[in-house]
Amino acid sequence: NNFCLILAGGKGRRLWPCSREDCPKQFLDFFSTGRTLLQQTYDRMAGFIPKRNIYVSTNRIYEDMVVEQLPDLPKENILSEPIFRNTAPSLAWATYRILHVNADARLVVVPSDQAVFKEDEFRRNVVEGLDFVCSSDCVLTMGVKPTRPEPGYGYIQLGGPTRNADVFRVKSFTEKPDRDFARMFMKSGEFYWNTGLFLANVKYLALVLSKILPPVMRNLHADDGSYDIDKELEYVKDNFPSFPNMSIDYGILDKNENVYVMKCDFGWADLGMWHSIYESMSKGEGDNVVISSRVMLDDSRGNIIKLPDDHLGIINGLDGYIVAEKGNVLLICRKEDSSALIRKYVNEIQVKY
Ligand code: GDD
Ligand code: MG
Repeated sequence: NNFCLILAGGKGRRLWPCSREDCPKQFLDFFSTGRTLLQQTYDRMAGFIPKRNIYVSTNRIYEDMVVEQLPDLPKENILSEPIFRNTAPSLAWATYRILHVNADARLVVVPSDQAVFKEDEFRRNVVEGLDFVCSSDCVLTMGVKPTRPEPGYGYIQLGGPTRNADVFRVKSFTEKPDRDFARMFMKSGEFYWNTGLFLANVKYLALVLSKILPPVMRNLHADDGSYDIDKELEYVKDNFPSFPNMSIDYGILDKNENVYVMKCDFGWADLGMWHSIYESMSKGEGDNVVISSRVMLDDSRGNIIKLPDDHLGIINGLDGYIVAEKGNVLLICRKEDSSALIRKYVNEIQVKY
């Protein structure tokens, strides 16, 4: 009864210029490991969730890349959205589909822009979590202890204990606070980072989603009573554009009272922004992170550098910068507060650089 939904439909703008709208970060082999972030996420989950129970939700412009990168994935398990509507509508579609495949399903939802360094611990936590949501109508988030006052993440405030020693009620949820709040949250010791991974049984999820989204996807059965996927696809094509543009974090975690958090420590690393990659990676000399094969660095500290492998970079006397080059774009930007800046530039140029 264990199912998984991989969210892989984001545009990955904060990792520009390496991540582009026509090939966002989840489809890149960022660290030259031989597997893209989506493939790594799939491999991690396929280690303990039956492959036929893994679903990938993405935008239809990325469907071909998903097919190509995950040849084992049944085609009908790719949920290709006709338009960008953020993650709450994606979850609604997947929940409805899975509910019809198996009404007793328990679902783990995973983003595709993250790394996990302790796979065994991760598996233990997810299996324990699936167990928890089997007998409990709630949304169970996975939290990790913050190591810096990062404004780019969601913060979960721990509440009272539960029957499971690792699981707590959630007192409050704050998505992407400003830096002062992030500092306060971190100092108080009561807050955990939201990893973006969460679990629930699909019956309960369907109930929660029906309260925040229009009463979606009714009457998708054929005359003989069986579920009709073609009808579903038709429905999505016609109705997805009218779904609200809403993230799971705002739509569910922020609004729902039945949210719990499992304290986790599976070596979680967010790979969605340059500075979070910098923070997660082991550092070389001068605390630099170099994700390129040919870079000569001198008298430089705290930079993150990613150039095409056939380019030689020579950098002297540079501190605290992102240097990233891909195709026709070179970005040199102070690492601090870079996410907002990069987003601004990408929005401004408005072309697919
Ligand atoms: N199918 C689909 N459709 N997937 C999407 C869409 C969409 O329209 N938009 C984003 N995604 C996918 C992304 O590809 C990514 O894997 C995942 O959903 C999360 O989206 P992000 O855009 O990366 O979210 P975030 O990083 O700003 O914030 C989330 O993750 C943080 C941890 O990394 C939140 O959950 C935060 O609370 C959390 O701390
Ligand atoms: Mg992210």
